[in-house]
Amino acid sequence: MARLAPLFAIVTALALPGASARAFHGGGVAACGGCHVTHNSADGLPIVPGPANDYALRSTTPSEVCLLCHAQSAGMVLGLNPLAPPPERGGGNFVFLLEENLNDAADGATRPIPGAAAGHNLVAPAYGLTADTRHGVSPGGSFPATEMGCTSCHDPHGRTSFRMLWGAGTIRDGLFVFGAPAPVASGLPLTAGAVERRGAHSAYVSGMSAWCGNCHGDYHRTVGTENFEHPNDAMLSIAVVDQYNRYQGVLNPTGGNPLDAYLPEVPFEDVSTAVESTAGPSATSRLSCLSCHRAHASSAPAALRWDFAIATLGEDGAVSGSWPIPNPYGDPSQPGLCWKCHAGGAPPPTP
Ligand code: HEC
Ligand code: HEC
Ligand code: HEC
Ligand code: HEC
Ligand code: HEC
Ligand code: HEC
Repeated sequence: MARLAPLFAIVTALALPGASARAFHGGGVAACGGCHVTHNSADGLPIVPGPANDYALRSTTPSEVCLLCHAQSAGMVLGLNPLAPPPERGGGNFVFLLEENLNDAADGATRPIPGAAAGHNLVAPAYGLTADTRHGVSPGGSFPATEMGCTSCHDPHGRTSFRMLWGAGTIRDGLFVFGAPAPVASGLPLTAGAVERRGAHSAYVSGMSAWCGNCHGDYHRTVGTENFEHPNDAMLSIAVVDQYNRYQGVLNPTGGNPLDAYLPEVPFEDVSTAVESTAGPSATSRLSCLSCHRAHASSAPAALRWDFAIATLGEDGAVSGSWPIPNPYGDPSQPGLCWKCHAGGAPPPTP
């Protein structure tokens, strides 16, 4: 049951801008009770808690409040069984935190990688989820793992930004400060048929790497803190644009067409992209963290969009017994999707 606040105060002037036609989150004061325990006061405004750190939430932790609706419905970001995950909408699914082993490399059976490595851990004990013990803080930054949850990234009272992501400023009532604004993007609706596929996917315009960088810095460029050095936020070079547009998988490595080259599994940022866009990149397109990672979690270590530790996608899940991430090109001999941007998979580092 909810942790009731010891003392209640009337919130008289919590103005929430940008109300839209959204079914729940745009509901203004009427929706407070979806997340808070409220009582009607004389002037009709909801009563919510006064003292800091006790918000009269409907569940014990902020993430559990969100999961009341979002675990099995409204986007299904958790689901029940990692071997039968809910449909992909872009963010990736937290159900993979419940995997027993993610390691599909040759040593996978003897050196299991726990589900906690599948992505962002949530503090939501009612769902069997607890803080990550592998990282005390966000790698490359300083956000505490013990505070990780839905509201570390999403503003529970947000309306205007992409997916209600926090913008620049203090978040969570002063817990942490974001320097970079919310990314510019648009996404699929959370309705039943809206599943990520070619021609229906999150459309990233700008700012994602800087936003992740609020907690992670310039991660793969921060020498000494990472194994894999790579640009995080670069303009795609002519060579990368050309490769991306021509590559249609191992069976058709050069026959692609820029008009339908877009692969939701390997997205990039572009000012002219849209949810239904199928066009490949142009000279204005950029790499971001989400070119390689999912924001929530995936069925591969480090929330990667494909398992980078296996030679071919056909090997995914074989050693570990984890859910195989769908192979966009079908053929089991398909190598990792670094190939979509780099012929040969991994070019030598530039001097
Ligand atoms: C989608 C769920 C949700 C809705 C709807 C919601 N809240 Fe909240 N609210 C939260 C959560 C979660 C927190 C705790 C913040 C944290 O630590 O993440 C919170 C915290 C607060 C706080 C403490 C200060 C702060 O901003 O963190 C106030 C005041 C508050 N809510 C008022 C309201 C009022 C008034 C409404 C209706 C207009 C409302 N909330 C609607 C989830 C919600
Ligand atoms: C009472 C049920 C309910 C609760 C509790 C709830 N949501 Fe939602 N949420 C919905 C529904 C329904 C939608 C889809 C329609 C809409 O956007 O309102 C949605 C949509 C969203 C979206 C997509 C919005 C967009 O612009 O595309 C995000 C992100 C989200 N919720 C996050 C959260 C977070 C974070 C919490 C906890 C602080 C939370 N929700 C709590 C019902 C809920
Ligand atoms: C509010 C802070 C915050 C933001 C924003 C954030 N992260 Fe994290 N991230 C963390 C923390 C804390 C950890 C370590 C604890 C954990 O895994 O839950 C982490 C862990 C990770 C991991 C390692 C997962 C693992 O278990 O090995 C990856 C990969 C990652 N983040 C990528 C991203 C990407 C990509 C974005 C942007 C979409 C992002 N993060 C945004 C705080 C954040
Ligand atoms: C590390 C930051 C982070 C955390 C933690 C996080 N989200 Fe998200 N979430 C995002 C980002 C970024 C997107 C947009 C992903 C995309 O489209 O690639 C997103 C997308 C979504 C969507 C849209 C549907 C989808 O699958 O893309 C919903 C709903 C949502 N989040 C709810 C939640 C809920 C509920 C929680 C907690 C259980 C949560 N998120 C935790 C960053 C986060
Ligand atoms: C070109 C693909 C690519 C891009 C772009 C990328 N990553 Fe990674 N990331 C990887 C790979 C591969 C790994 C696994 C190898 C490793 O741990 O270094 C990884 C691992 C991580 C880890 C996990 C570390 C751990 O110890 O668990 C974090 C955190 C992370 N990335 C954050 C980010 C953030 C934040 C960005 C954007 C600022 C980003 N990555 C951009 C490919 C990428
Ligand atoms: C969305 C496209 C994209 C994907 C996917 C991608 N890269 Fe890159 N990669 C780039 C861009 C852009 C650069 C910057 C240099 C350039 O434009 O050629 C780069 C540079 C590199 C470099 C040179 C390193 C340096 O510091 O300059 C290496 C090595 C590399 N990538 C390996 C990989 C590997 C391995 C993967 C898969 C885990 C991968 N890349 C996935 C776009 C991508």
